[in-house]
Amino acid sequence: MVQLYNILVLGLSLAYTALAVCNYGTTHFPREPNVPIGTFGYTGLDGPLNWYSLNKSANMLCAEGHFQSPINLNSSIPTAPGNRGLTLNITSYSEGAELENLGTTLEVPANGTFTTADNTYNLAQFHFHTPSEHRIELEYYPMEAHFVFQAANKSMAVVAFVIGIGPADPLLTSVFENAAEAATPGEATLTGPLMFKDLEDHFGSSNVFEYSGSLTTPPCSENVHWYVSAKPLAIDQDTYTKVKGIMKFNSRYTQNTPGGINLLQNSANAINS
Ligand SMILES: *[C@@H]1O[C@H](CO)[C@@H](O)[C@H](O)[C@H]1NC(C)=O
Ligand SMILES: *[C@@H]1O[C@H](CO)[C@@H](O)[C@H](O)[C@H]1NC(C)=O
Ligand SMILES: *[C@@H]1O[C@H](CO)[C@@H](O)[C@H](O)[C@H]1NC(C)=O
Ligand SMILES: *[C@@H]1O[C@H](CO)[C@@H](O)[C@H](O)[C@H]1NC(C)=O
Ligand SMILES: *[C@@H]1O[C@H](CO)[C@@H](O)[C@H](O)[C@H]1NC(C)=O
Ligand SMILES: [Zn+2]
Repeated sequence: MVQLYNILVLGLSLAYTALAVCNYGTTHFPREPNVPIGTFGYTGLDGPLNWYSLNKSANMLCAEGHFQSPINLNSSIPTAPGNRGLTLNITSYSEGAELENLGTTLEVPANGTFTTADNTYNLAQFHFHTPSEHRIELEYYPMEAHFVFQAANKSMAVVAFVIGIGPADPLLTSVFENAAEAATPGEATLTGPLMFKDLEDHFGSSNVFEYSGSLTTPPCSENVHWYVSAKPLAIDQDTYTKVKGIMKFNSRYTQNTPGGINLLQNSANAINS
């Protein structure tokens, strides 16, 4: 019985992946034909302390960049109300969207726009980290969501939300509704219905930290415009436990304040002096 169920679910998720792939080739963000599994990790020699060594030409900024993410957010980082000059507009998926297990994160390809004073960015995907990558006043949160955008001129922006445990924002419960069916890297499943109006309102009613940083994964590219909501979202305990059991731990350590020496370079200097 259990086996039959698993075979049915696997069949469904493979069929869904194949359907989704037909659309992907036409997007502004071409994706791999199958769910690609990350080649880096978060533990030992695969982990963030060694990302540079995994590919020294590609990942140099991981060890040498001076504007790396994530960081600790406090009053040294400027904030502005999320409804002043910023517009988040994410396409709703009333029939659900594809949740992909990349090994390094759980990710949902989706469309939408993010408009700032000087650019319009297109959404590529959103994904999650546990525990949070950013800290607010030194405090970490159980999870964090990253909505990754790219403008026509390739400029990147990430809209981020730290996530606490509490009465859940329904969007998060729905994103992970079938996550157990994508518990293994390379698998994909369907989310529940995804409606983003509440998220857009949440962002609009929060203060938003703005700073220039980097991707928090290799190749740690810089000039990424970060917009982190100061007001956390919430996920319920059961969904959190389920998601943590799948993602395990996928959070880069806190980087130096923007403009400061890369912490890895600092260590190398100290060891060699
Ligand atoms: C390292 O990164 C470069 C540039 O992205 C790529 O061309 C090369 O194949 C990578 N090398 C390895 C060993 O992954
Ligand atoms: C903010 O945090 C950084 C460390 O992340 C610290 O250097 C700085 O002094 C803090 N600013 C304030 C105003 O506390
Ligand atoms: C959001 O984007 C959609 C699709 O591009 C558009 O039809 C809609 O008017 C936009 N909504 C707002 C509030 O700008
Ligand atoms: C995003 O929009 C493009 C163009 O309309 C479409 O082909 C693609 O399927 C959409 N992707 C998702 C994940 O909805
Ligand atoms: C993209 O355009 C924005 C706004 O004009 C500009 O600030 C940014 O430097 C450009 N980015 C790139 C990578 O050209
Ligand atoms: Zn991320």
